[in-house]
Amino acid sequence: MSFVDDSRRVGGASTRVIAVTGGKGGIGKTTVSINLGAALAALGHDVLLLDADLGLANVDVLLGLAPTLTLADVVNGTCELEDVILDGPLGMRIVPAASGIQHMAELDTRERAGLINAFGQLERRQDFMIVDTAAGIAANTLDFCNASHEVLVVVCDDPASITDAYATIKVLNQSARRHRFRVLVNMAEDDRQALRLYARLLEVCDRYLDVSLDFAGNIPLDTRVSTALRRRQCLVQSFPTSPAAQAFKKLAQVTDNWPAPRSASGRVEFFVERMAQAESLRRVAQL
Ligand SMILES: Nc1ncnc2c1ncn2[C@@H]1O[C@H](COP(=O)(O)OP(=O)(O)O)[C@@H](O)[C@H]1O
Ligand SMILES: [Mg+2]
Repeated sequence: MSFVDDSRRVGGASTRVIAVTGGKGGIGKTTVSINLGAALAALGHDVLLLDADLGLANVDVLLGLAPTLTLADVVNGTCELEDVILDGPLGMRIVPAASGIQHMAELDTRERAGLINAFGQLERRQDFMIVDTAAGIAANTLDFCNASHEVLVVVCDDPASITDAYATIKVLNQSARRHRFRVLVNMAEDDRQALRLYARLLEVCDRYLDVSLDFAGNIPLDTRVSTALRRRQCLVQSFPTSPAAQAFKKLAQVTDNWPAPRSASGRVEFFVERMAQAESLRRVAQL
């Protein structure tokens, strides 16, 4: 059964869902989500950023947006999903953080179906959905990653970051048989350091896991990142020529070349559906 009338979708192409994760907090997941999303939007794509982190430095706070409605209101039936979506930089659209999506396990079947349907009935086709995940490897974060087409693991030059990235990859591999991961090095001093870091993660993964890693690139350490943040602006928009913004544009081009999902799995509502399934499977396993 299809939830959507395909005639409303321009070209009927699928949505590529990318989860941005990494285990550790403070490694730049939200920075990457916002700026990759904005850089993809600048390439002319329709981008939806789903903030799946209820932490303090969440997407709407960093961009100075003030959401009045959240997914919880959609679930309650008090508003439409379109009413919740905020306009972000460069035409990117943002679904702000909400307990509605954090506690999918607590939704009953009707509420869950309502949420899935709401994503399926979005007026605009999305080329990309970026999911900014919370720190740590909580079950919910794993579900978001498992439901996505691509998992972008962010690492930086910190032993804890490598350990956390490895732990994230290991648990995603074991819980969902996911084999392919994209790795983005953030805050590297230069390309050589970024590649060295990637090689370290690759070595430990090759030794203990049956996974394949792809180097997605590196975002240099750049003071303009925090300057933009203080101004509640997106780096790619406010400092487009800065080294980090250039690197985000390059990353957007790389991302754009990743293979598109097969059409049936490329609908945003399938993502929500997979999320819901993951939650219920986990609950059954815990019984
Ligand atoms: N490439 C970078 N260069 C300089 N500072 C960065 C870079 N990426 C992230 N930061 C800074 O690191 C801090 C944590 O980033 P954030 O995106 O909130 O991490 P996370 O979402 O993983 O917790 C922020 O202050 C941000 O400005
Ligand atoms: Mg964050």
